Amino acid sequence: MGLVTLEYVLRKARLGKYAVGGFNFFTLENLQGIAEGAARQNSPVIAMASTGAMKLFGEKTTAAIARTVAEEYGVQMVLHLDHCTDMEILKRCVDNGFTSVMIDASSKEYQENVDITAEAVDYASRYGCSVEAELGHVGGKEDDISVDERTAMFTKPEEALKFVKDTGIDALAVAVGTVHGFYKSEPKLDFPRISAIHELIPEMPLVLHGGTGVPEPDFIESIRRGVCKINIGTELKSIGVYETSRLAYLEDNGQDPRKVSKKVVKACADIVAHKLEVFGSVGKA
Ligand code: G3H
Ligand code: ZN
Repeated sequence: MGLVTLEYVLRKARLGKYAVGGFNFFTLENLQGIAEGAARQNSPVIAMASTGAMKLFGEKTTAAIARTVAEEYGVQMVLHLDHCTDMEILKRCVDNGFTSVMIDASSKEYQENVDITAEAVDYASRYGCSVEAELGHVGGKEDDISVDERTAMFTKPEEALKFVKDTGIDALAVAVGTVHGFYKSEPKLDFPRISAIHELIPEMPLVLHGGTGVPEPDFIESIRRGVCKINIGTELKSIGVYETSRLAYLEDNGQDPRKVSKKVVKACADIVAHKLEVFGSVGKA
């Protein structure tokens, strides 16, 4: 076991009608927790690093650590660069052995999104690295926008068909009602839209971003309609890392940082293992 491509795990997920969890990591313990959760469930898993993390740790260090962690835990892991808007960082990740990258030009006009995404695909595919891109826009920070404005950013099925043909991507992130971060009110997913997109591009794995706070039945319904990758970030960061660290520090009175680290690994592993069960990927590695 070790690093595998996104294309490989999502092809199996699409045929097997389950989803693979994509989990953001910010620290070593966070990454170990992802690996431990996947090992516990004998499930494939996607460890997702952000562009910000690349600026902090560097692509070489991140790739070396992730490869080693995947091997040590004996898991089938995709090392994925999440939401990248910087082509130079994306290329460095490919050069250093990332097995998947997400180019995010979703805030641009259609043709510019296509051109940027196609450049990423051209580069990454030479090295066997998978590419995810986004069409429509999954919001999060635009809290004050109206429902109509939010709906205007949803992925249009006909445009998705054209986008996939124009770019050659391996996975498509769709805007269907989820947002990044904690929800202020109950999320309302546009299930008919997921089905409409899936019917036009049945072989393209669809990606659901903004998984934190989405009710479990909604995950199951999304998977039934064509979603193959589900991203979870905020829950791991806020509960798995920060809240667990805070409580462990207080409990130990700041004596032994290793106790904090161990608790973070376990808390992240528990979150990941549970999600993998909901996503139906247990035993699929
Ligand atoms: O790309 C990352 C995910 O979409 C994370 O979303 O932080 O709302 O769970 P989340
Ligand atoms: Zn996202």
